[in-house]
Amino acid sequence: MEIRLIAGIIVLLIGAGVLYLMMPEHGRQAVRIDHTDMQAVALGSEIYKAECASCHGADRAGQAGWDTLSTKENPLAPPHDGSGHTWQHPDDALFDLTKYGISTIACRTLDTDSMPKFEDVLNDRQIVAVLAYIKSGWSEDILAQNRDINALYGYQ
Ligand code: HEC
Repeated sequence: MEIRLIAGIIVLLIGAGVLYLMMPEHGRQAVRIDHTDMQAVALGSEIYKAECASCHGADRAGQAGWDTLSTKENPLAPPHDGSGHTWQHPDDALFDLTKYGISTIACRTLDTDSMPKFEDVLNDRQIVAVLAYIKSGWSEDILAQNRDINALYGYQ
């Protein structure tokens, strides 16, 4: 009797484990980028100057000719100020593109010869901070559209 009970519990635990592994993004918390978090924005501003401005521009306006001269082999850094397409990605995609140069959510890979992967340079908190700083430069209209995009993916 007791053995059957223990065996039953083990089977249940294994089942729960399998279900957990089948859940999307198990073990990973969804990333939220909050441009109203002033501490994050201040930290992000410093990180942006040091790590991103050389390509994406001190004013977040991207590299000159990014929309006309970019080629697949030699992409130019797009603006992060709301005039490019950064705002078209949900928070998790921006995080993954910055950290790994690839995002399954945005269905795209970045050319890692021209856009460095930051996974060994910045920790997760710093990546969220620099993206909060980027978002803090967006107009109300762009922020609203980005909120809608996040909502499409089930984020608030
Ligand atoms: C050495 C130049 C360089 C640096 C430094 C750089 N980037 Fe980029 N970044 C690029 C280029 C070039 C692209 C476009 C790559 C492509 O289209 O394949 C890009 C694309 C991106 C994208 C994707 C935008 C989109 O709409 O698809 C994000 C997000 C991004 N960069 C964030 C950052 C952040 C954050 C930093 C600093 C922590 C940073 N980048 C530093 C060159 C750079």
